[in-house]
Amino acid sequence: MGYQFLLEPAAWTFFLCLLQTFSSGSGNFLQDLGLGALPDIAKINVSQDEYKQMMEVYLSTRRSSPSNNHVPHLVTLDVGHHFRDTSRRNMIDLRANNLPGELEVDSGELKLLIDPVSPSDPDVVHVRLYETFGPKQRQFIDEKKLYLSRNQTKWCEFDLTDSAQWWLNDKINSKLELVCSNCKGGALSVREAFVNALVFREAVRMKRSVSPFDQTRRTDCRYTGGGSHRMKCCRHNMTVTFKDLRFPEMASIVQPKSYEAGYCQGRCPPNYNYATNHSRIQTLVHQMDKKVAKQMSRRAIPKACCSPSKLAPLEIIRVDPYNTSKLIVEKWENMQVTECACS
Ligand SMILES: *[C@@H]1O[C@H](CO)[C@@H](O)[C@H](O)[C@H]1NC(C)=O
Ligand SMILES: *[C@@H]1O[C@H](CO)[C@@H](O)[C@H](O)[C@H]1NC(C)=O
Ligand SMILES: *[C@@H]1O[C@H](CO)[C@@H](O)[C@H](O)[C@H]1NC(C)=O
Ligand SMILES: *[C@@H]1O[C@H](CO)[C@@H](O)[C@H](O)[C@H]1NC(C)=O
Ligand SMILES: *[C@@H]1O[C@H](CO)[C@@H](O)[C@H](O)[C@H]1NC(C)=O
Repeated sequence: MGYQFLLEPAAWTFFLCLLQTFSSGSGNFLQDLGLGALPDIAKINVSQDEYKQMMEVYLSTRRSSPSNNHVPHLVTLDVGHHFRDTSRRNMIDLRANNLPGELEVDSGELKLLIDPVSPSDPDVVHVRLYETFGPKQRQFIDEKKLYLSRNQTKWCEFDLTDSAQWWLNDKINSKLELVCSNCKGGALSVREAFVNALVFREAVRMKRSVSPFDQTRRTDCRYTGGGSHRMKCCRHNMTVTFKDLRFPEMASIVQPKSYEAGYCQGRCPPNYNYATNHSRIQTLVHQMDKKVAKQMSRRAIPKACCSPSKLAPLEIIRVDPYNTSKLIVEKWENMQVTECACS
């Protein structure tokens, strides 16, 4: 199975690859370095079966991890009814009414199996996804470039998180509309459609506000309105959303879409939250050196800095860079700050 625990370098190799892709504008450069650890996004073709199987592996990994005690469940809707309307647009009916209880949607995606395109038609197509409410009312959801195949069917995904939030919760039936700007005949040929959502059941909702780092929260910032620049060294919240980092390769990370990374910032007065005996001494030396340094107009020995003292790993499910029809579950070390100290 594709389940692996990779060591810390794997995560940083991934980011390094992204940085280098970004700065050189060429993916081949990565192969030259022997770091070909990014999938070709044009070739990603993950089937619904592979998704379901590996997502369960990913979720159970998260459940067994000590730092994650509230993990969503996978809910899959087989969207039986997809069709082209009279003006040949792709329409998809979503029926959410057979779902149990009240849900809180963590994320959602639409997965489509699309027929091959003929040799004379474009195989890279631009598709916008809308939710329609009436003949003239629609809400934009997601926009994507799809890389289709000329001789085989291909799986494609759209992010549905924002709209699934309300129609799954309220059990409202909904209608999606796909608008392709450069497809032959203005539409895609959709063979199969599924909606995959990660949801919290209501009972879990209360627990959800409890943070993953309860036992280690002692260095979290407590904002008192005094302005954060005056605060002593503490852990601030910082949510990282992979999509917002704007690398196309981020599309190969299936989950999490975003995570709480945190950062450390604040003053380090003497004896405050020191990480080591060394940093305590350094702060003392700084105090004494300040005057002397001023007289001699040089810089003083610096005081200790607010920096991470405890980090937690992040479980990731992403497209296997060596086989773009498969998913792999990885644990990337040191991705989230849980505690800060002066060091
Ligand atoms: C994509 O995967 C499906 C199996 O789920 C396969 O039938 C199809 O040929 C694949 N398409 C490409 C372009 O590899
Ligand atoms: C589809 O076409 C690609 C190249 O365009 C080729 O490599 C592949 O073998 C073909 N697959 C099938 C099933 O014909
Ligand atoms: C940081 O986020 C957590 C939830 O992840 C929240 O409980 C906490 O209040 C936030 N802290 C601050 C200082 O905003
Ligand atoms: C400082 O050193 C003492 C003596 O070895 C040790 O007991 C203590 O834990 C150290 N403190 C820190 C913060 O490392
Ligand atoms: C990718 O994985 C699938 C499913 O395990 C397998 O059938 C296929 O041969 C693999 N492709 C490559 C290029 O290794």
